[in-house]
Amino acid sequence: MRKTNILDLARMKAEGAKIVMITAYDALFARIFDDVGVDVILVGDSLGQVVLGHPDTLNVTMEDMVRHTAAAARGRKRAFLVADMPFLSYQTGPSDAIRNAGRLLQAGAEAVKLEGGRNAAGTIRAVASADIPVMGHIGLTPQSVHRMGGYRVQGKTDPQRERLLDDAAVVQEAGAFAVVLEGMPAVLAGEITRTLSIPTIGIGAGVGCDGQVLVMHDLLGLFDEFRPKFVKRFGELRKPVEDAVGAYAAAVRDGSFPGKEHSF
Ligand code: KIV
Repeated sequence: MRKTNILDLARMKAEGAKIVMITAYDALFARIFDDVGVDVILVGDSLGQVVLGHPDTLNVTMEDMVRHTAAAARGRKRAFLVADMPFLSYQTGPSDAIRNAGRLLQAGAEAVKLEGGRNAAGTIRAVASADIPVMGHIGLTPQSVHRMGGYRVQGKTDPQRERLLDDAAVVQEAGAFAVVLEGMPAVLAGEITRTLSIPTIGIGAGVGCDGQVLVMHDLLGLFDEFRPKFVKRFGELRKPVEDAVGAYAAAVRDGSFPGKEHSF
């Protein structure tokens, strides 16, 4: 089975075939999603919230990302693997960005994703010039939560809309091979998608993007702390997990587990 690569993603845009992307943070889920046939697995810095228990993505470190990227890389065989560059791993300058992006490739990623538009253009250019494929990420950028005054939909006013159109063009021009459009009006995301030659991957950006991404814990119905409007829960796995662990606890407590068949 041939591995998905950056050219396949470009071809999918040209042919109008939707790109399916999902997050994974370990080998087990990366293998399951790979077996299902997703196109791209993202080791997102959403790791901070859904796995490590942080309130936001700002405390995720390079060490966290390297360990989880390596784990996901061991699990997947075919899907294209993208790793997020965590906060402060690229904002501090191009040489830090190249070094840290390189570490993620050495851990098994085939591309890195970093947040920002015009403000990140120099960084995208530097990393892409080092032959490290870069996925951009514009709109609602979680690492800028404090600058945005919270997790707010972006691009609702005319000046914001103009800024996002400019961000998208600049990210492409700087050398990104694809761009995530997060938390923006569907009409704007559709316009950006038609304007750009690189694929757009939407999250909370409507159906007009070239592909979609969701955080695995959200779409599986495992994460209950908050439920953004853009999340569709394609499963409700929290309840079966609670039921199974509850049944195990009850069986241990009443002595019915382990039975003879589980004993030597
Ligand atoms: O960290 C993440 O999971 C992401 C996606 C939500 C796009 O950046």
